[in-house]
Amino acid sequence: MSKSDLRKKIDDAVAVIRTKTSSAPAIGIILGTGLGGLAKEMEVDVAIDYAEITHFPVSTVESHHGRLLFGKLAGKPVVAMQGRFHYYEAYTLQQITFPVRVMKFLGVRSLLVSNAAGALNRKFRRGDLMIITDHINLLGDNPLIGPNDDTLGPRFPDMSEPYSRELIALAEECAQSLKIKVRKGVYAAMQGPSLETRAEYRFLQTIGADAVGMSTVPEDIVAVHMGMKVLGFSILTDECFPETLKPVSLEEVIAAANEAEPRMTAVMKEVVRRMKE
Ligand code: HPA
Repeated sequence: MSKSDLRKKIDDAVAVIRTKTSSAPAIGIILGTGLGGLAKEMEVDVAIDYAEITHFPVSTVESHHGRLLFGKLAGKPVVAMQGRFHYYEAYTLQQITFPVRVMKFLGVRSLLVSNAAGALNRKFRRGDLMIITDHINLLGDNPLIGPNDDTLGPRFPDMSEPYSRELIALAEECAQSLKIKVRKGVYAAMQGPSLETRAEYRFLQTIGADAVGMSTVPEDIVAVHMGMKVLGFSILTDECFPETLKPVSLEEVIAAANEAEPRMTAVMKEVVRRMKE
């Protein structure tokens, strides 16, 4: 059987990476807006600019670096994406999720993802840390649209456990032992880049979302498609309560993310330390 175009692209990207490192980490990490601090905790052995990797998209958002980092975190080999891609930057979902596919072929079995999100659950506050238990895809698109390569995953992947129950339990244990408060909830993905209206926030609350953002869901779908386990964290950077909504600035979002980031970094690092693989 001949290789699919997608599989050829993955193989090309892996081949480039393999000229620079033979590392085969079992853990992959994607860092969100203002959340690059975990990279500082890493002992980085090799950093590869996305621009050097065939078929990798290149980041356009200034607050994002575009590098793939190989090294150790809490003594374990990891690969981390410093900087991620968003639908509102006009990438396709296939481009956005391409690095996840490459990570799988480098040996990654578990994916840790972080993002900045708005709080919809009225019990949650700006600065809270949330473990993602489930998601609602409101992107109006799906990264698996198009021909399916059955060697990568099934045509109709099951989504009954989009975020690993085992990893969620581990993250809760880690947070508890570090005395860091965590919330749990459902993440809704919107296209952006405009933030939502009051009416949209009310709608999102009604349909069961606890947080809203513009990322993570495509990466999760592709990871699940390939049989990877996913653990997702949201830092809640603003309160999206329709009745009391105030204007939000990117500066405020980034400031809240920076404030909460050390707590998230500590939990993620402890999760990596305690992970079985
Ligand atoms: N919507 C609202 N608030 C946010 C978002 C979003 O997508 N991301 C971070 N804060």
